[in-house]
Amino acid sequence: MQSYSENLRMEGERIAFVPTMGYFHEGHLRLMKEAKKMADCVVVSIYVNPTQFGPKEDFSKYPRDLDRDLKMAQSVGVDVIFYPADKEMYPANYQTYVDVEKVTQNLCGKSRPGHFRGVTTVCCKLFNIVKPHMAVFGQKDFQQFITIKRMVDDLNMDLQIIGLPTVRESDGLAMSSRNKYLLKDEKSSALTLFKSLKLAQKLYAGGETKSSVIINEVEKLIKRTPHTAIDYIKICDTKTLKDADKIKSQSVIALAVKVGKTRLIDNHVFGEKLER
Ligand code: PAJ
Repeated sequence: MQSYSENLRMEGERIAFVPTMGYFHEGHLRLMKEAKKMADCVVVSIYVNPTQFGPKEDFSKYPRDLDRDLKMAQSVGVDVIFYPADKEMYPANYQTYVDVEKVTQNLCGKSRPGHFRGVTTVCCKLFNIVKPHMAVFGQKDFQQFITIKRMVDDLNMDLQIIGLPTVRESDGLAMSSRNKYLLKDEKSSALTLFKSLKLAQKLYAGGETKSSVIINEVEKLIKRTPHTAIDYIKICDTKTLKDADKIKSQSVIALAVKVGKTRLIDNHVFGEKLER
């Protein structure tokens, strides 16, 4: 992969990279399509990274379907699929990790200790392997996007990080490979995340800026929904990801809710569009 990319670079070609864990949906394809517009060559990695899963999480049952993914990637003009094996990425005696300290403390960093250390480590490795000029991420994983940008700035990595808006189903549910886990009657409960963001947006549009008021209303809405258990509902500064008491120009509401056994996340940056 490195020498392939090096050759492209020597020919003056621009490389855009989309790291993924596979089991594609329209959200992944949107990133690939946008990448295609920005560069001469689009590289997509498919790698279910073990270091970002906790011991009780869904690593072994995470959905995988390489044939389906290859066809979908081809349909949007992806040039290269990088599909490494665990023993290539983490050979025996592997011992180096990247840890972004502060923006990983809150939100999913609290509920999933070690998760972002796994994400930044694998992305750092993938960036070194693929040597892209730019890498494209979805803002559905808002904290991941902010964390990757922090790592790239802090470590002087020579690539641009691009964030793209969340792609949703027609009913508003944010697309996710994990939606596959939802049982029939849990699907409508999963909509509570989008409804919560809509409610927060409406309260803010009506003049409410106190985070606690908005969080309370959202909490009531989710608690009324069957099959749900709240992990967190938070309003944070978009740069530091620290809790914000009041909504300012740069604030995000972020949610993590378990629907049945499936943990879902979603977010909305106040003042931005929330489509559907
Ligand atoms: P994965 O969950 O497969 O997501 C790959 C990319 O697709 C991420 O940038 C994610 O934010 C984006 N994405 C997922 N759902 C989306 C949606 N509904 N709309 C827009 N973009 C969406 O995120 C990971 O993999 C991994 O943590 C990874 C970065 C590959 C490191 O292992």
